[in-house]
Amino acid sequence: MPERPTVTPARPDRRGSGGRGRRRDRRVYLRRYPVLFALLSATRRRPALRLGRTVLVHDPEGYLAALTRVPLDRLAAGTVGGTARRLGSDGLLFDQEGPEHRLLRRRLHDGLGPAGVDRLRPVWTEVLRRRLAPLGAGEPVDLVPVVAELAGATTAALLGVDADPLALAAAARRAAATAAAEQLPGPRPPGRARAARRAVADLADLLAVPPDEAGLAAMLTVAAVNTTVAGIPRAVAWCADDRLWAHAESADTRNALVDELLRVTAPTPLLPRVAAGDGTVGGCPVRAGDRLLLVARHAAGAHRTDPDCADPAPTRIARLVFGAGTHSCPGARLARAQLADTLAALAPHRPVVVAARADARAALPGWARLVVRADPSRPETEPC
Ligand code: HEM
Repeated sequence: MPERPTVTPARPDRRGSGGRGRRRDRRVYLRRYPVLFALLSATRRRPALRLGRTVLVHDPEGYLAALTRVPLDRLAAGTVGGTARRLGSDGLLFDQEGPEHRLLRRRLHDGLGPAGVDRLRPVWTEVLRRRLAPLGAGEPVDLVPVVAELAGATTAALLGVDADPLALAAAARRAAATAAAEQLPGPRPPGRARAARRAVADLADLLAVPPDEAGLAAMLTVAAVNTTVAGIPRAVAWCADDRLWAHAESADTRNALVDELLRVTAPTPLLPRVAAGDGTVGGCPVRAGDRLLLVARHAAGAHRTDPDCADPAPTRIARLVFGAGTHSCPGARLARAQLADTLAALAPHRPVVVAARADARAALPGWARLVVRADPSRPETEPC
């Protein structure tokens, strides 16, 4: 019998110090999903909890079981695959299983594997070099449009399309925001689905790829841009607030810092899934049709411990923010490399956050504006 993967948190609860990084980061949840955030916080001590036909899954073992052992309905309403189908596309990885899915994943490996990421690296380092230069002159920089350009340019290069990076990123963010609104429970105003379809069509127009590739290209763009634009500014803000720049500057600690910052920010904090068959998650029996809300943020211990480069969470826990099993994120290597290079480019300036506004509309919790300014005189006092 094949061995089942297990994940046991290796560290005892070492509650975040409630430092400035954690306090500021809370604002992105409170602005975008205040009720959901409160519900998830209130129930997080339970490994899993059933509320009617919905099961909230908080602990790493249950999260892993749901993603790797419970059969999932990949076309159910309220999931990414189901939404894509409703908006008129299919064959987009999220909605696939078996050989068809494996084939498409193999095709992606060219662009997103180690060689692909090395090929793409000059694209985003050029954006960073140019857009962060004002920091050297003591000027402020809003990181959100910088990261949007970085993500748009990288995705265009990955897909081999000649689209304006900022326009591409804006279209991908609009498509995700309207699709997320489409997924919200409750009555759907008639205009909502139309707006979502129009946003996807606008994105496909910008990409200008052959019709049989348009759905996949649009889905990749949405997945890459939205996670990056949500994740990198949040990670940078936390790094600045907790004064972790020395760890970002050193090549010895940078990768540990990247994993820890992605773990505590968990850019896709909640994965909605629907069971297609029976199973058990976190000790809670589930049956076909149950809605599973998989709390990546809690599975990775984001609420439990602050970033710690000297004693980071085990990789198998930290990487839960990228999912698990056959559908785990194919862009994880790219995402980690982009964050590492962004931190390395910023570190010599020891930036501080001078203004931040949480995004009230984006699909993922994040900053609409995050302005930083160099502060080379500030001492690094707190250990990572
Ligand atoms: C910090 C950044 C990112 C995070 C936190 C993240 C997170 C995730 C998660 C949690 C999943 C679901 C995994 C599962 O069901 O087990 C996923 C799937 C996916 N991600 Fe990412 N992602 C990130 C960046 C990216 C990037 C940069 C790309 C593309 C270049 C990408 C492309 C995808 C695709 C195509 C899937 C669907 C895979 C499948 O169903 O087989 N992601 N991601």
